[in-house]
Amino acid sequence: MITIREETAADFQSVWLVNELAFGRPQEAALVDALRASARPYLSLVAEIGWRVAGHIFFSPVTIEDGENEDGENVSGAFGLGPMAVLPELQRRGVGSQLVRRGLEECLRRRHEVIVVLGHPEYYPRFGFEPARARGLTCQYAVPDEVFMVKELREGALDGLKGLVKYHPEFDKV
Ligand SMILES: CC(C)(COP(=O)(O)OP(=O)(O)OC[C@H]1O[C@@H](n2cnc3c(N)ncnc32)[C@H](O)[C@@H]1OP(=O)(O)O)[C@@H](O)C(=O)NCCC(=O)NCCS
Repeated sequence: MITIREETAADFQSVWLVNELAFGRPQEAALVDALRASARPYLSLVAEIGWRVAGHIFFSPVTIEDGENEDGENVSGAFGLGPMAVLPELQRRGVGSQLVRRGLEECLRRRHEVIVVLGHPEYYPRFGFEPARARGLTCQYAVPDEVFMVKELREGALDGLKGLVKYHPEFDKV
């Protein structure tokens, strides 16, 4: 059985390992540690299978600069999804999907109604993500349009939101 729950300090080491093994390098694991220390607010969930941490998902604030809001304030409450990771031997069993779905529910509960993600264009559309550029949002990083996606968790949440999306500065180091 898969249990999705909020991370506690007792999970930090397991979360590091899940990220390091899933990405095959330590950068994303280090990013999670850095974001925990400096991003506010954030949401960090783990997926547990039989007391073992099998997966992890992280959400942190992004800013949207539209020319009038160039001081980088998170006025929209928008969140960025990522990183997310599932232990290689436990992938393709629905763990990632449960993490995304529960994560989005929890974001909405906390009134973060716009979620962006930089990731696999074959994966996130199944959760309702669509290319962000078509909704007037661009990414600070030079990436193909289809990998930068957005989902509004309440109809109309994206109305009036346009511009350059910026992640927490710790993402620049990855
Ligand atoms: C992406 C990831 C979190 C998905 O977790 P998961 O538990 O395997 O996901 P699920 O079982 O819910 O879904 C599996 C689906 O994801 C797809 N998928 C998994 N990894 C993928 C990838 N790298 N690119 C595209 N699709 C991928 C599979 O094709 C599968 O689709 P299918 O059901 O149509 O066959 C996991 O593969 C992972 O940790 N990858 C390495 C780290 C990573 O790339 N993180 C995401 C950064 S955006």
